[in-house]
This record gives sequence, C-alpha cells and structure tokens, in this order.
Amino acid sequence: IRMIYLTRIERFNAAHKLYNENWSEEQNREVFGKCSNANWHGHNYELHVTLKGKPSPDTGFVFNAKELGDIVKEVIIDKVDHLNLNIDVDFMKGKLTSVENLAIAIWDELKPHVEKDGVRLHCIKLYETATIYTEYYGEASL
Ligand code: NI
Repeated sequence: IRMIYLTRIERFNAAHKLYNENWSEEQNREVFGKCSNANWHGHNYELHVTLKGKPSPDTGFVFNAKELGDIVKEVIIDKVDHLNLNIDVDFMKGKLTSVENLAIAIWDELKPHVEKDGVRLHCIKLYETATIYTEYYGEASL
C-alpha cells in the first residue's frame, strides 16, 4: 500500500512551571533551574500533527487539512492557548508539564478524533522553543 504523511501545524502560547511537589525548593531549583520559578513563565509552542494514510480516490486527500485544523483547534488549542498548563488544563492535571508529557497527552487527546477510514495518527511533534522539540509516535507495537 502506498502510504503518505500529512502534517498540520498549529501554534499556541501557554504558561507553566516545572516543579516536583515531592521535592524541596532547593531540589527543584537544582534540577529545573529557572523553569521552577514559582510565578510561572511562558512558551510559544508549535504543534505538528502528522497523519498517515492513502490519498482518497475522490479527493486526493489523506484527510481534509481544513477539517484537521478545526479538530486540532477544538480538541487541543482552545484548551491550552493563553492558559496555564499546570492549573487550567484537564488533560495535564497531576502531570509534570514538560514538553515530553505535553506531547504524549496531546497524542492521547487527539487520537480518537482523527483516526478513521484507514487514517492513523503517526506523530505528535511539539516545539517548546526554537531549539527544543519532542516527537511522540505512540506506544511501540508488540
Ligand atoms: Ni518552560
């Protein structure tokens, strides 16, 4: 089968801090540095959502890119943009708000909304800064 990958990029801004409640102030400062600042800091995140599938014979699309953008906005962006990842975001409750954990949570939230008719979620790539990003491809299959 000829498979092709389609990526939609969306952006959001959010506040957070990296802080392990089980550690002392000093330990947090040592591991997370300025990222543990009590009064938060923010990032301009860039989210790449990549689907995989075959082009439809009717449209030539793996997935309608406009529709994909609308889904990503509704399921993810509207729930994180201009908000605090530690406080305001249900799917990050009780988690350390690292870019790794955020990418995994976004995968879990998005997957049921985009997989249909042979289309699979392939990768969540999430930039936290211009120089740091993470990629998640889901659980390795056995
Ligand atoms: Ni940060």
